[in-house]
Amino acid sequence: MPKDDLKRWIRTELWDQVPVSISVINRKFEIVEANQHFADTYGEWRGRPCYAVYKQRTSRCERCSAAQTFADGRVRIREEEGTLANGQPHHYIVRTIPLVRNNGQGSEIPFAIEMSTDVTEIKMLEKEKLEAERLAAVGETVAGLAHGIKNVLMGLEGGVYIVRTGMKNADSNRILRGWGIVEENIDRISAFVKEFLDFAKGRTAKVAATDPNLIATKVIELFWDSARLVGIELTCDLASEIEFANLDEEGIHACLVNLVSNALDACEMSDKSGGHVHVSTAERDGTLLFEVADDGTGMDSEIGKKVFTKFFSTKGSERGTGLGLLTTKKIVQQHGGKVSFESSEGSGSVFRLEFPRDRLPQPNASDS
Ligand SMILES: Nc1ncnc2c1ncn2[C@@H]1O[C@H](COP(=O)(O)OP(=O)(O)O)[C@@H](O)[C@H]1O
Ligand SMILES: [Mg+2]
Repeated sequence: MPKDDLKRWIRTELWDQVPVSISVINRKFEIVEANQHFADTYGEWRGRPCYAVYKQRTSRCERCSAAQTFADGRVRIREEEGTLANGQPHHYIVRTIPLVRNNGQGSEIPFAIEMSTDVTEIKMLEKEKLEAERLAAVGETVAGLAHGIKNVLMGLEGGVYIVRTGMKNADSNRILRGWGIVEENIDRISAFVKEFLDFAKGRTAKVAATDPNLIATKVIELFWDSARLVGIELTCDLASEIEFANLDEEGIHACLVNLVSNALDACEMSDKSGGHVHVSTAERDGTLLFEVADDGTGMDSEIGKKVFTKFFSTKGSERGTGLGLLTTKKIVQQHGGKVSFESSEGSGSVFRLEFPRDRLPQPNASDS
């Protein structure tokens, strides 16, 4: 077979065999030629405009890449969403290529080729993958929640048992002791549920010009008595020249509560007696800083890597939910800020919240 015949033969075969829809349109956007794959995918095309065939439209698309190709002679590649004749949604990647002809005075573009690849299935897989990931995250969260509740329930059952046997034996001391355990576990479950809701709900931040020192003061007051009771010294150093900042007061309060309660836990869990927790505020190079330092247990680098992970806690079920630092990070990031820490095992930790002022959110308290 002569070489040219062979070439022509291959081209004809290719035109109808490639798994790509190819059509040629004129400047009125009417399809003048199409391959077999195109006809199989989109149905009858003869004399119909491309927008009708691809998208079941009656007028041209708003952002028409063929019109752009006709205007500037450049190839366009775009991801598009259309509808097949049977009503099925259809995703495709279309490439618009100019067919340039020299008419003696210059070049013109009487036609354009539209080549499209069907990516509907890939799109569906992507969507299924996202859904599967979401479900996995929900499952993990529910498992953590159930675990937390189960531990508190065991505590409650223990308390109830002691109350019941105390009542049976008319032993008021035993009843009081059991009741103490019941109350303690009810407090624990309230704290757990509150921490969990803070984590899960993503409260809408109420941002307003707020005095950073006032938030710090409130948190110190909150922990003052309980720290003294366990022999921990709670001190503070609030920078006097700090200006008001656009903060979600309740959110930042929750962050500092998390950091201070972790610091107190670290002191209590340390072998050393006493313990010292220091809260400070500062302003440095346009950045607002909060710091909570303690001389408690500190952490080794393995633990340090995991502290911002959901449900990671080294405190056992009585104390830890493993949500505090993750929630803190989320709230701080909503303010355009970041959380960091330094820690050394056996000597203590410093947790730092940094808020560059130019990244703080706009106030919204008045309209909420
Ligand atoms: N100041 C700190 N000193 C030592 N370890 C800390 C400190 N803050 C946090 N951690 C570690 O990070 C873990 C996660 O903290 P967090 O998210 O608040 O959860 P939880 O306090 O419920 O355990 C803690 O269990 C602890 O191991
Ligand atoms: Mg905590």
